Amino acid sequence: MSRQQSVAIVTGGANGIGWATAQRLAEEGYRVAIADLQAEAARQRAHELGTGHAGIAVDVAAEAQVMALVETVVAQFGRLDVLVNNAGIGDQSHPTIHQSVDAFDRLLGIHLRGTFVACREAGKVMLAQRSGAIVNLCSIAGLAGIPARNAYGAAKAGIAAMTRSMACEWARDGIRVNGVAPGYVATELVNTLARNGQMSVKAIERRTPMGRLARPDEIAHAICFLASDAASYITGTVLSVDGGWHAYGAADADGPPS
Ligand SMILES: NC(=O)c1ccc[n+]([C@@H]2O[C@H](COP(=O)([O-])OP(=O)(O)OC[C@H]3O[C@@H](n4cnc5c(N)ncnc54)[C@H](O)[C@@H]3O)[C@@H](O)[C@H]2O)c1
Repeated sequence: MSRQQSVAIVTGGANGIGWATAQRLAEEGYRVAIADLQAEAARQRAHELGTGHAGIAVDVAAEAQVMALVETVVAQFGRLDVLVNNAGIGDQSHPTIHQSVDAFDRLLGIHLRGTFVACREAGKVMLAQRSGAIVNLCSIAGLAGIPARNAYGAAKAGIAAMTRSMACEWARDGIRVNGVAPGYVATELVNTLARNGQMSVKAIERRTPMGRLARPDEIAHAICFLASDAASYITGTVLSVDGGWHAYGAADADGPPS
């Protein structure tokens, strides 16, 4: 089967990192299913990519909807080569002692359970094909402690753990599973955190060795590399794409050496 006919699902593909990834996969010749809570935006984005792509409404927190998503894509395109688990939301904006269990559960339901169910359903198809690549969106917040990011950090750390366990389970079945851990990326998710006073862009720029936020396409490049045959011997890894944020151990990346 030629690369022209390869098929990818990008959850949360209507905006931000997901949209940048969908565009890049389409450029590489994939048929892309943009699966997003925002149904109309997903259809519009698929239309922007041209013919041969699909926009599909899904809430990744709803098991039945994720199962239906994979079924629909396989029915329409006949196979599934790449799954990018990207759909996500930011954490609640309160200090820990004011955080609610409902919001905690909701975030885990989207990020952690959503990724689990999508991997499980894609895994069924990829095991039958004996080929496939899954890329899960992790985060620096799952690797280091960021105050009050409880559900978000736990979800992302959990996604990294699942990435490793599924990678090991399926390594001899032709399925690779990897993660990308972005630092701060200029998307609506970050704009919302900044608007809510949960984050200062200036402080992030100071703390980041490269002195700036990432562009969505810089994360998309890493996702597409891990999904591609160029990464054929890479599985179970979480690649930091963070301008050096996680590597940095001194006081202020903007100041004199300390
Ligand atoms: N922006 C960052 O700085 C950053 C950093 C690290 C990790 N990430 C991760 O990258 C991923 C994408 O983030 P982004 O910044 O592009 O976000 P974004 O807000 O720009 O886009 C997220 C997309 O996900 C969709 N979505 C939200 N909930 C959904 C659900 N339940 N079902 C289906 N779709 C849903 C939204 O409609 C939207 O289109 C997320 O998993 C996020 O946690 C982002």
